[in-house]
Amino acid sequence: MIKIAVLCSGGDSQGMNTCVQTIVNMASVHGIMVMGVRRGFQGLIEDDLVELTRESVEHIGNLGGCFLKVSRCPEFKTPEGVKKGYDVLLKNRIDYLIVIGGDGSYRGAIELSELGAKVLTIPGTIDNDLFYTDRSLGFDTAVNNAVRAIDNIRQTMEANNRGLIVEVMGRNCGHIALNVGVIVGAHSLAVREVNTTIEDIVSDVKQCLQKGILSPIVVVSEAVDYSIDEVKKAVEEKCGIECRSTVIGYLQRGGEPSVLDRLFAIQFGINAIELITKSVYNVALGVRNNNIFYMKLEDVYNLDDEFNKLLYRQLRNLHNLK
Ligand code: ADP
Ligand code: F6P
Repeated sequence: MIKIAVLCSGGDSQGMNTCVQTIVNMASVHGIMVMGVRRGFQGLIEDDLVELTRESVEHIGNLGGCFLKVSRCPEFKTPEGVKKGYDVLLKNRIDYLIVIGGDGSYRGAIELSELGAKVLTIPGTIDNDLFYTDRSLGFDTAVNNAVRAIDNIRQTMEANNRGLIVEVMGRNCGHIALNVGVIVGAHSLAVREVNTTIEDIVSDVKQCLQKGILSPIVVVSEAVDYSIDEVKKAVEEKCGIECRSTVIGYLQRGGEPSVLDRLFAIQFGINAIELITKSVYNVALGVRNNNIFYMKLEDVYNLDDEFNKLLYRQLRNLHNLK
C-alpha cells in the first residue's frame, strides 16, 4: 500500500483545509494511506504524524485556518534539521510527501527532495509570492477580505471627510496591495515593486484633493520600508487633510476560503494524488490561465516576479495621476 504524508507550512492560508480534505478523500479512492503532519516542518522533525481518514477531515473543507496547524521552523533551515525531517519520513515509511505552503516552505521541500524524499508541492500563501503560478491558495480570499474591510472603513472616512491610509499584507511583495488597490479604486498605491516613496503618495493625494476628492484612500503594501504612521504624518502635514491609518492585518488571513480558493484547492488535491498514482514526484503544482499544471520543483525559482505594471498604470490613469 502506498503511504503518503501531507503538511502545511509557513503562514496558514484559506484553502489549506479544503486541499487536505481532498487529498485524503482522493487517496482513499486509490487505497492510499495518508498521514497528516502536525505543525509543518516542526512537527515533521518531532515525528508528530497522525493518520487522516475521510471521517477525520469530513468537516474541514469550508474552514479557514489550518486543521493540521502550521509553524515557522527555524531548525529546518539547517542541514541537520532537514536530515531529521528526512529520517522521520524514512522511519514512518512515507513514500511521498505533499507540502502545502509558500516560498520558504518550497525551499524546505526542495532540500528534502535533494536528500531523496519524493515530494510534491502545492502553493498555499495569501501573499501569492510564488511566481511560477498565477495563484496560490488563500490569495483570493485575502483580497476579498481586505476589500470588504476597506469598503466598510471608507464609509466612516467619507462621513468625516478624512483620508484613509491602509496597510495590507504581503511580506515581500505587493500582489495583495495591487489587487486590493485596483478594486477599491485607491487614489495612491504604495508598493515596493515600483519603489513608491512617501513623496509620491503626497503628490498623488494632492492631485486628488485638487480634483475635489474629499476622502482619498491610500493603500500601502506591508513590504514597503516605511510605516503607515509616517505616511499619515506626511499626508496630514503636506496636504492639510485629517487622516486615519489602519492595518487590516490578520483579518485577511481569517475566515472561510472563497469559492475560487476552494475550487483550486480541490483541483490541486485531486491532481496531486493522480500524479502520485503515476509515480510522478519532485514537482510543483500550479495554476496557469485557470488550468492546473505541474513543473519540476527545482525550476520554480527560475521565474521572475511578474508584477502587473500595466494594471498598476491603469489604476493611476483611472484617477488621471501624473
Ligand atoms: P512561507 O512558506 O509561507 O513562505 P516561511 O518563509 O516562514 O513561510 O517558511 C516556512 C518554513 O519553511 C520556515 O519556517 C522553515 O521551516 C522552512 N524554510 C524556509 N526557508 C528555508 C530554507 N531556505 N531551507 C529549508 N527550509 C526553509
Ligand atoms: O506569508 C503570509 C503572511 O500573512 C504575510 O503576509 C505576513 O507578513 C506574514 O505571513 C505574517 O506572519 P505571522 O503569522 O508569522 O505573523
